[in-house]
Amino acid sequence: MKNQDYFEINKQTWNNKVPVHLASDFYNQKEFLKGKNSLPEVDQEILGDITNKSILHLQCHFGQDSISMARMGAKVTGIDLSDKAIDEAKKINSALNLDTKFICCNVYDTLEHINEQFDIVYTSYGTIGWLPDLDKWANVISKSLKTGGKLIFIEFHPVLWMFDDDFKEIKYHYHNEKPIIEEYTGTYANKEADIKTDYIGWNHSLSEVFSSLINQGLQIQHFKEYDYSPYNCFNETIEFEKGKFRIKHMDNKIPMLFSLIATKK
Ligand SMILES: C[S@@+](CC[C@H](N)C(=O)[O-])C[C@H]1O[C@@H](n2cnc3c(N)ncnc32)[C@H](O)[C@@H]1O
Repeated sequence: MKNQDYFEINKQTWNNKVPVHLASDFYNQKEFLKGKNSLPEVDQEILGDITNKSILHLQCHFGQDSISMARMGAKVTGIDLSDKAIDEAKKINSALNLDTKFICCNVYDTLEHINEQFDIVYTSYGTIGWLPDLDKWANVISKSLKTGGKLIFIEFHPVLWMFDDDFKEIKYHYHNEKPIIEEYTGTYANKEADIKTDYIGWNHSLSEVFSSLINQGLQIQHFKEYDYSPYNCFNETIEFEKGKFRIKHMDNKIPMLFSLIATKK
């Protein structure tokens, strides 16, 4: 199969997840509509004051985080592969009377759909694992940024993706060896949901992330690893502090998250 076939399967998968996610406690759409900021604290801290900043949000799902950044005063454009997610994002944006833009496209085709450069490219939590090639990803980021603009990237740590779903054994390569083709029941936002999806993912090492960005002339100015996730989206978790989750039997022995800022010179 070609990457294009994989993207079609993943698009279907994400389309199927949208109604389940919209109805989930995880995404808590009711509170979001009332004004709750969906961005985790760590993201809000790293983003800082984004008033009047132009932001390109890659892989925005149905737009909660994009709209949260718009509510914080930014001018946001969100893109996502899933047409169902983008349709919902547009509906939510209109209902809230905001001016967030949403575009349905593959990350790799972003430059065909936008004709401006941004102060910030933001992408977070469950993104690069859907992409086969980080050089192409970093190229899109670099070309979408103004000189002096910043990539703000917050992502689950690649060590997590080496394990099976219950974190009992190492099942996958740390490095990007080949596409990982799996079937999954339920979703991270509702594990009991009656939904079966096929997906194709790729594991990316930290060195692959760094070199893809460095090769595009981006300068890494911040990198941090964390021993917790702000989302309760994995199996076998424990909330050891309010809003901070770890894998129960791993305690704080493994990294769960990283944040990275890279500047276009
Ligand atoms: C885990 S979600 C993004 C997470 C976001 N933090 C959230 O929870 O709302 C991953 C998103 O990536 C999108 N996606 C997957 N492959 C993509 C691709 N090749 N191009 C653009 N979007 C893609 C999916 O449609 C999905 O909305």
